[in-house]
Amino acid sequence: LALPFPFLPALLLSAWIPPAPALLNILAIPEEPAQGENVTLLVRGLPGELVAYNWYRGTSLSQAHLILSYIISIADETPGPAYTGREAVRPDGSLDIRDVVPEDSGSYILQTLNQRFETDVAYGHLLVYEILSPPLLLANGTKLVERRDAIHLLCSTPSMADIRWFFNGEPLPIGSRLGLTPDNRVLVRHNVRREEAGSYQCEVWNPVSVSRSDPVNLTVYYGPDRVTIVQESAFRTGCTVEAEFNASLILWCVTRSCPDPEYTWSLNGRPHDSTTSSLSINRMTKDKEGTYTCIAKNPMTELSGSASVLVKMSVATSATTIVPIPSKPTEGKDVILSVQGYPKDLLVYAWYRGTASEPNRLLSQLPSGNWIAGPAHTGREIGFANCSLLIQKLNLTDTGRYTLKTVTLQGKTETLDVQLPPHPMESSLRLRIMPPFSK
Ligand SMILES: *[C@@H]1O[C@H](CO)[C@@H](O)[C@H](O)[C@H]1NC(C)=O
Ligand SMILES: *[C@@H]1O[C@H](CO)[C@@H](O)[C@H](O)[C@H]1NC(C)=O
Ligand SMILES: *[C@@H]1O[C@H](CO)[C@@H](O)[C@H](O)[C@H]1NC(C)=O
Ligand SMILES: *[C@@H]1O[C@H](CO)[C@@H](O)[C@H](O)[C@H]1NC(C)=O
Ligand SMILES: *[C@@H]1O[C@H](CO)[C@@H](O)[C@H](O)[C@H]1NC(C)=O
Ligand SMILES: *[C@@H]1O[C@H](CO)[C@@H](O)[C@H](O)[C@H]1NC(C)=O
Repeated sequence: LALPFPFLPALLLSAWIPPAPALLNILAIPEEPAQGENVTLLVRGLPGELVAYNWYRGTSLSQAHLILSYIISIADETPGPAYTGREAVRPDGSLDIRDVVPEDSGSYILQTLNQRFETDVAYGHLLVYEILSPPLLLANGTKLVERRDAIHLLCSTPSMADIRWFFNGEPLPIGSRLGLTPDNRVLVRHNVRREEAGSYQCEVWNPVSVSRSDPVNLTVYYGPDRVTIVQESAFRTGCTVEAEFNASLILWCVTRSCPDPEYTWSLNGRPHDSTTSSLSINRMTKDKEGTYTCIAKNPMTELSGSASVLVKMSVATSATTIVPIPSKPTEGKDVILSVQGYPKDLLVYAWYRGTASEPNRLLSQLPSGNWIAGPAHTGREIGFANCSLLIQKLNLTDTGRYTLKTVTLQGKTETLDVQLPPHPMESSLRLRIMPPFSK
């Protein structure tokens, strides 16, 4: 038996009618082959008494698409125009394709010829998956300004594979809100937000391989956000900071900004030399009082913000109190008029029995720290450096009102009365001397 090559193609093409429900079928083994694998298009349901097979690539029986003709009796294989050198027909009609490439994907047709010169056809399909190489992630800018710039990322790959995205290593959910084009290749987000700074990657995948791009790190510059001034060491009410005389305090300018902002400070509108986030006020004095302003400027966003605080020197004597110890003095015993919260910047003080006039002066403290007696001194009064007054061996003539007058280094004068008895319900503000308990 010798058939012309290829056998009767013209007749077959012109006389071809759709076959009756074929018993023949073709199955690719493996079903989802990867590039480089060997594939068999396995033929099942072949009738007996066959003479020859023809394998075609494509969807039509055309001589141009003929891969191989095979004559069974002599196992003769004749290549056609579509033969690539990697195909071989087995005696059972199956087609082996070595080292498949994605271009091998498509339809295949097996045509059989029996001894009565009847033909039959069967269709098979092959899909060869590419072994994917990493895509290239391209950004048209990696340093962005919040609410101004757009993220624009392109996942560049020659493959037709599916694409998915990763942000800081986590899958980015799919959705139009994320600014992905329908083919997932381009990610665009306008008015970038600070939370969107991070590492982006794209990945191509198919059933046999997956490959991820190198990360592209996006920086988002933002701020400064609301600027405030904080401090710890001094007392603060609202926008006013009170610092005691000679106290030190540090003002901190606080904001959120990327990158760190540039700081400038001013006092009462005049530039101050601090260029960091903090400003130190050492040894508070009156001339350091005023409005301190911090301006934080972000060089990348070109935005700035400011905050101001009023720093005042506190009136330290306002917290001064005089407490007799013991609180119910007894005749014949001692009492200390204990002064709490006296001014830290005390220069001198004077105690008076009665109002603060010279004849009533009991004693005064000198800048040296020693005290000297005044006109009203009885010999039983002693002054201490902390302003307290000791009165020894009380007698009833000591009953009365006592006045303390303080003068600070700043020249500030303050007078205070003994508040006795200490409970304001009692009408008298006098030091009352009790008779000894034994009487
Ligand atoms: C494919 O078949 C060829 C020849 O039969 C063999 O040398 C090769 O190792 C096979 N490749 C794979 C991936 O099995
Ligand atoms: C990035 O691409 C977007 C969209 O094409 C464009 O609007 C934007 O100006 C580009 N940015 C830069 C820095 O080139
Ligand atoms: C991007 O960020 C990641 C994680 O922070 C880091 O490992 C990587 O080196 C960065 N890449 C570049 C190009 O800066
Ligand atoms: C001010 O404080 C400094 C350091 O705390 C101290 O040495 C100095 O004596 C103080 N001056 C006055 C007047 O209190
Ligand atoms: C003031 O000094 C005297 C003598 O050192 C002491 O007894 C008294 O407790 C002091 N008072 C206060 C309020 O510190
Ligand atoms: C109370 O003390 C003053 C001054 O030390 C003294 O002159 C007076 O006699 C005393 N009075 C009594 C009742 O002890």
